[in-house]
Amino acid sequence: MRPVTLEVTERVKEGDGIATLRFDPSFDVSPGEFGMFWIHGVDEIPMSFAYEDGVTVRGVGEATNAMLELREGDTFGVRGPFGTPFDVPEDDVVIVGGGTGMAPVALLTEAAADAGADVTTLIGAGTADELVFEDRLAAVADVRVATEDGTAGYEGLVTGLLDEVIDEMGEPSEVASCGPEPMMSAVLNRFDDRPEDVQCCLERYMKCGIGICGSCCIDDTGSPVCSGGPVYTGDQLTNGEFGVYHRDAAARKEYF
Ligand SMILES: Cc1cc2nc3c(=O)[nH]c(=O)nc-3n(C[C@H](O)[C@H](O)[C@H](O)COP(=O)(O)OP(=O)(O)OC[C@H]3O[C@@H](n4cnc5c(N)ncnc54)[C@H](O)[C@@H]3O)c2cc1C
Ligand code: FES
Repeated sequence: MRPVTLEVTERVKEGDGIATLRFDPSFDVSPGEFGMFWIHGVDEIPMSFAYEDGVTVRGVGEATNAMLELREGDTFGVRGPFGTPFDVPEDDVVIVGGGTGMAPVALLTEAAADAGADVTTLIGAGTADELVFEDRLAAVADVRVATEDGTAGYEGLVTGLLDEVIDEMGEPSEVASCGPEPMMSAVLNRFDDRPEDVQCCLERYMKCGIGICGSCCIDDTGSPVCSGGPVYTGDQLTNGEFGVYHRDAAARKEYF
C-alpha cells in the first residue's frame, strides 16, 4: 500500500510537548484504528487517529519531535487506517484514558455517545497541563479527571477515581481503556470476574503495521497487535505478557 500524502491544515498545542495536527484529506476511521505515519526523511511510526483528520502527538524521540515541528502547509504521509477497532458500546460504559491513549478514547467517547450509550469518561494525567480533550469530551459525556499531583480533579491515579465512580454509580455494563499499560492492567484487574466486558487498546513496537513482519506479536497467543489488535477484550489478554512486559525494536523484553 502506497502512503497517502497529508497536508497539515492546523496545529493545536494541547499541553507541554503535546500537539494535535489536523490534516487533509480525512479518513473514514473507527475508534482505535491507527495509521503508519511517515515523516519525510525521518521515520515511519504508528499513531492512533484522534480525529478522522487528525493525530495527537507527544514528543518522545526523533520522529514524534519532527512531527511537532510541522506547521500549516507542511506535508507528511500515512498508510492505513489499520487495526481492529473498539466495539462501540451502546449501553452504559466507563472509558478510562491517559496520555496519548486519549486519542482513541476521544473517538470512542464520541462514537458511543452517538450510539446512545450513557458514557462516563475518566481522564488521567500526571498534572493539569497534560490533560487532553477534557472540553471536547465534556460536550458528549460525563467527564471526570484525575491528576497525580492534585492540580485538577481527583488527586491520585485514575484507577482510584474509577473506584470512586463505581462506588457512586455501581458497576458499568462495559469498560474500555487506552493509555499506559500498567493503568489498563489495573483497570482489567478491577473487573477480573468479567474480563470479556473490558476492552483495552495496546501499543507494541510496529514495523509493517499489517500483520506480516511479526514485530508486534504478543505472548502467549502470538496475535499481531497491528492486525489482531490493537483493541482486545480482557479475556484475550490473561496469562500472557499484558501488563508485564513488551518488546523493543530488537525484540528484547522490556518490563513495565
Ligand atoms: C497503535 C499505536 C498507536 C499509537 N498512538 C500514538 C498517538 O496517538 N500519539 C503518540 O504520540 N504516540 C502514539 N504511539 C507511540 C508512537 O508510535 C511512539 O511514541 C513513536 O513511534 C516514537 O518514535 P520516536 O522516533 O519519536 O522515538 P524513539 O526514540 O524512536 O522511540 C521512543 C519510544 O517509542 C516507542 N517506539 C519507537 N518506535 C516505535 C514503533 N515503530 N512502534 C511502536 N513504538 C515505537 C518505543 O517504546 C521507544 O522506546 C502509538 C503507538 C502504537 C503502537
Ligand atoms: S507490525 Fe508487522 S506484524 Fe505487526
